[in-house]
Amino acid sequence: MTPESWGDGTRSVRAGEAAPVPGAPLRPSPVFAAPFHLGDRAPRAGGADAYARTEHPTLRDFETAVGELDRGRCLSFATGMAAITAAVLPFVRAGDRVVLPSDGYYTTRLLASDELERFGVRTDLVPTLEIEAAAARGDLHDARLVLLETPSNPQLDVCDIAAVSRATRAAGALLVVDNTTATPLGQRPLELGADVTVGSDTKALTGHSDLLLGHVSTTDDALYDRIAGWRGHTGSTPGPFEAWLGHRSMSTLDLRLARQAATAAAVAEVLAGSPAVRGVRWPWRAEDPSYALAARQMLRPNGVVSAELADETSVWRFLGACRLWTAATSFGGVHSTVDRRAQWGADAVAPGFVRLSCGIEDTDDLVADLAAALSDLG
Ligand SMILES: Cc1ncc(COP(=O)(O)O)c(C=O)c1O
Repeated sequence: MTPESWGDGTRSVRAGEAAPVPGAPLRPSPVFAAPFHLGDRAPRAGGADAYARTEHPTLRDFETAVGELDRGRCLSFATGMAAITAAVLPFVRAGDRVVLPSDGYYTTRLLASDELERFGVRTDLVPTLEIEAAAARGDLHDARLVLLETPSNPQLDVCDIAAVSRATRAAGALLVVDNTTATPLGQRPLELGADVTVGSDTKALTGHSDLLLGHVSTTDDALYDRIAGWRGHTGSTPGPFEAWLGHRSMSTLDLRLARQAATAAAVAEVLAGSPAVRGVRWPWRAEDPSYALAARQMLRPNGVVSAELADETSVWRFLGACRLWTAATSFGGVHSTVDRRAQWGADAVAPGFVRLSCGIEDTDDLVADLAAALSDLG
């Protein structure tokens, strides 16, 4: 039996583990240090740590574990946005063209409009459902970098990573995939042809709504070195406590995803059966427009569902009637939450559009609470 053949539960706990040492803790404790003893040799002779902004032992443990899930070499960042920035900025210069999703996480669009454009990088926004056709038409031929987000947040559209990767390879462009919604257990973009996979580990990977983290993984050593250089220069390195807590939290990823997905399946049916709701999206529901591709491309479902209530007032009434579904942004945590996306003013969604993130409370309790609150809407 090899680590490659382990199931998701085993990998969530054991990924990246070093050989056991008698007397050592099962999971190394955080090493709180900024500089390390250099001794009387040249810095880092013999591979010793020197200064924690570049790397540190607790971060290495966490990165080894996440990299094993992604099947690449991982670099961890202070937030998901720091990871996305590190996957894009080191590889572009003035005059380059970058293609991003028009319907993905909105701060990625702000990174393009408020930062990249300022440095003369051209950015084009393409809907997730249209990127494959754009690739087939040859529209990516002059791109330097293409970023996909699949399933997209918040509308949960799915695009074909392998198909787009064929076009980016032919164009000599880099393909970056934001894998946040799926998680490294739910999808392995590097195996589908992506050059870099990124994730906001603030979401399900760590999953307790008490941490900000992000990561980048790649199988290409030159890309890895460039991104490591970027992190060292810009200083977006997580500290030891975050890295240790992220690693500890990741151990339960398989269990949390299983419960969240089981609840999402039930929740999607309740929503679909309610006259107060339309446009239910969960890519693993057989009726979903993304179902066929999700089932082919992804490895397992997760707990993020979206739907539309009549209007803004209906959302507030619905939330007022809920006991367990809590109004909060973000997703993938142990608490079940509802986010009215239009309130942030950045997504092209209807005023009553909500993203539900199923937590790990009992499915029956969550379904009962949801059904009661929906019946209040008439
Ligand atoms: C798909 C996606 N990518 C990236 C991010 C950014 O992550 P962070 O908030 O950790 O910077 C988010 C945050 O919501 C997200 O949903």
